[in-house]
Amino acid sequence: MLNIIICGAPGCGKGTQSDLIVKKYNLKHLSTGDLLRKEISEKTELGVVADSYISQGNLVPDKMIIDIIEKAVDEQPLESNGIILDGFPRTLAQAEALEEMLNERNKKTTVLLDLKVDTDELVNRLLKRGETSGRSDDNLETIKKRLDVFEEKTAPVSDFYKKLNKYAVINGIGTVDEISARITEVIDSKK
Ligand code: AP5
Ligand code: MG
Repeated sequence: MLNIIICGAPGCGKGTQSDLIVKKYNLKHLSTGDLLRKEISEKTELGVVADSYISQGNLVPDKMIIDIIEKAVDEQPLESNGIILDGFPRTLAQAEALEEMLNERNKKTTVLLDLKVDTDELVNRLLKRGETSGRSDDNLETIKKRLDVFEEKTAPVSDFYKKLNKYAVINGIGTVDEISARITEVIDSKK
C-alpha cells in the first residue's frame, strides 16, 4: 500500500506529476485544490466559502480540508494500491491530523515528495496557465500571495516529514518525463 504526499509551491507540477503516478502505481488521486474547485463550480455552500479564500490566495480553514480528506480516505476503492495526496497537508495542523487519521486506520505515509522549482519559473508557469485556466487565483497578484503563504504555512510541513524520515526532495525543473523518472526512482526505493 502506497500513501504518497506530493508537495511543493504553487505551479511546481503537483497535479501534472500526480496524473502520471496515479497511472503507474494505480493510486487514487486526492487533490484538495481540485476537490474545492469542484465545489466552487457546483456553487455549493462549501464552495462559496472556499472561493472567498482561494481567490485571495489564502488557505481555506484546516477543519474544512481535514473533513474532506477524511471522507475521501474512507471512500478509497478497494482495487487501488493507495493514495496520492496532492496539495495536502499544507499546514502543520493538517500534517498532524493526517498522521493521526492514517494511524487510526493502520496505515502510514510512505513518503513526502517535495518538488523544488525556482520562483521565476513558478510565476511563468502559472501566468501561462492563467491565459486559459479560468482559475481565479492564476493572476500575478494572487500568485505572489500564494507563494508567500506557501513559504509561511507549508514549508514547515517538510521539516515535519524530515523528522519522520519520510522526506524526499525532487528537482522539479526539466521535462515532465524527466521529473517523472526522478519521482519513480524514489517511490520504487520505498516499495
Ligand atoms: P491547489 O489547487 O493545490 O494549487 P497550488 O498549490 O497553488 O498548485 P497548482 O495546482 O497551481 O500547481 P501544481 O503544483 O499542481 O502544478 P501543475 O501540475 O498544475 O490549491 C489552490 C488553492 O486551494 C490554495 O491556494 C488554497 O486556497 C486551497 N487549498 C488547496 N489545498 C488546501 C489545503 N490542503 N489547505 C488549505 N487550503 C487549500 O503545473 C502548473 C503549470 O505548469 C501547468 O500549466 C502545467 O502544464 C505546467 N507544467 C507542469 N510541469 C511542467 C514542467 N516540467 N515544465 C514546464 N511546465 C510545466
Ligand atoms: Mg494542482
